[in-house]
Amino acid sequence: MVTTADAPLSAHAAVHVPVESLAVAVERRVAAALGGAEPLLRGSERADFQANGVLPLAKARGLDPAALAAEVAARVGELDAVAHCAVSGPGFLNIDVADRALLENLAARAADPRLGVPTTPEPGVTVVDYSSPNIAKEMHVGHLRTTVIGDALARVFAFTGETVVRRNHLGDWGTSFGMLIEQLFEEEDAPEDIAALDAAYRRARARFDAEPEFAERARLRVVALQAGDERTLAAWRGLVEVSQRHFQEIYAQLGVLLEETDAVGESHYNPMLPQVCAELEAAGIAVESEGALCVFPEGEGDGAPLIVRKGDGGYGYAVTDLAAIRLRAGELGARRLLYLVDARQARHFAQVFATARRAGWLPDGVTARHLPFGMVLGLDGRPFKTRSGETVALQQLLDQATAKAAEIVSAKNPELSGEELAARARQVGMGALKYADLSNNRIKDYVFDPDRMLSLTGDTATYLQYAHARMRSVLRKAGEAGADPAVTPGLPLEPAERALALLLDGFGTAVAAVAETCEPHRLCSYLYALASAFASFWERCPVLKAEHAGVRGNRLLLCGLSARTLELGMDLLGIEAPAQL
Ligand code: ARG
Repeated sequence: MVTTADAPLSAHAAVHVPVESLAVAVERRVAAALGGAEPLLRGSERADFQANGVLPLAKARGLDPAALAAEVAARVGELDAVAHCAVSGPGFLNIDVADRALLENLAARAADPRLGVPTTPEPGVTVVDYSSPNIAKEMHVGHLRTTVIGDALARVFAFTGETVVRRNHLGDWGTSFGMLIEQLFEEEDAPEDIAALDAAYRRARARFDAEPEFAERARLRVVALQAGDERTLAAWRGLVEVSQRHFQEIYAQLGVLLEETDAVGESHYNPMLPQVCAELEAAGIAVESEGALCVFPEGEGDGAPLIVRKGDGGYGYAVTDLAAIRLRAGELGARRLLYLVDARQARHFAQVFATARRAGWLPDGVTARHLPFGMVLGLDGRPFKTRSGETVALQQLLDQATAKAAEIVSAKNPELSGEELAARARQVGMGALKYADLSNNRIKDYVFDPDRMLSLTGDTATYLQYAHARMRSVLRKAGEAGADPAVTPGLPLEPAERALALLLDGFGTAVAAVAETCEPHRLCSYLYALASAFASFWERCPVLKAEHAGVRGNRLLLCGLSARTLELGMDLLGIEAPAQL
């Protein structure tokens, strides 16, 4: 038994107390003064924070709003961190925090490796289903958003302390593979890469449509595949391998977390499908209809049924998703299932989730959410297509962004070697491409425009990366000069310093908002505001040239925290922050 006296001191030191946001502390105080009613606290022109909530409470209790506001203001003003709290207009409170409180908070924040981002009180398992391309085909523009947004959410949830299970639900099973394998058996060379595979797939499809004998052989090949015929299975494994290599190459370039082991494709659930159907049928949830096994939507409505088994005995996309839910919420113990799939599949997921609930595979307390997103448009504002009207390969989009980034990086750093340039161009290009996607409201369409996404002055990752590199350069110079980023809490703050400090204070709230809403653009807006506040601060407040050593220390601390916050924030979005650009 370990007594307290025996416990090593380092154990105490390791207990990390996260820094609390001043805004959150003030909000809590306002809430307490309002008798538990939830106030809305926001930044304002006239004060650090403005709170409402007095008026509704006064109304509900039949009190005089002015008197209530004065009483609440007095109680909020008692808080040490609050410099003044005044009533404004009909029941608003204008609240300013004290410079000292801001500086002390910055010092505590600097000692917090999480920079004020709270962990979730009861961590559980979150499954993020994203990317999910189909094997034997090149990834295309349609896979961009699911991959980028899914990865950002996987990172954010992991950082809040969730156990995140990434699931790449590959389309690796189904009748079309019979056709493709038959075609490959009849051709001389086995395809070595995805382009060759993609081409063979097209040839197979053309023959399937034109040659009835081929179509028949393709059907028999499906039967052989289902029955586990060794030669057919070996060919199928070959397709999966070539495809996986392609997917992993794309993921590596993009810098997304997905690994081969995260790929649990549709084939994985195939052996479970008879049991899933049997359970649905036994529970009376699925019924035979015209030879097929169907789940009819509950209640009124003209909704078409969810077909869990086709008339010919074949299983489809829907029942595979049911089996996946059963496994994820069951064996994996997930309490949250997230699906990054385009908006056209909204009905599919609504029906699948409803069926899984009825079957008991999604118990109370387990949430399942389809997170739809808008389309990627071409420069003409229409769905992205090649000139000949085909879908655009994802690789081509990555190449465009990287090429544009290489121009920008080499213009700024003509001395870089080819290798260094390529590495930096990838960081800048992929960051820009991801940010352009993530910074939009998830559900809206956006235009894929490499010039705009790499603008040095706009709301782009490139702008954030430059801001970050500038901060790092100041910190390097300060280090060389031996300047100390120590806080001197007694000094007054300039408005640009306060604005920056207040933004740093809001980091945890911004990250928490992404976890709550599954909307990464909230973190993008936050980081852009932070980088902009830093730019104003930088313009107005000399750092290394500050005369007073205490002022210099405070400003250096602001630089250091801004750099760390930007870096961590970008990392949570999957965007790299090189120390130099
Ligand atoms: N492979 C599917 C497609 O390309 C997307 C799969 C999405 N995930 C899922 N669990 N259904 O449309």
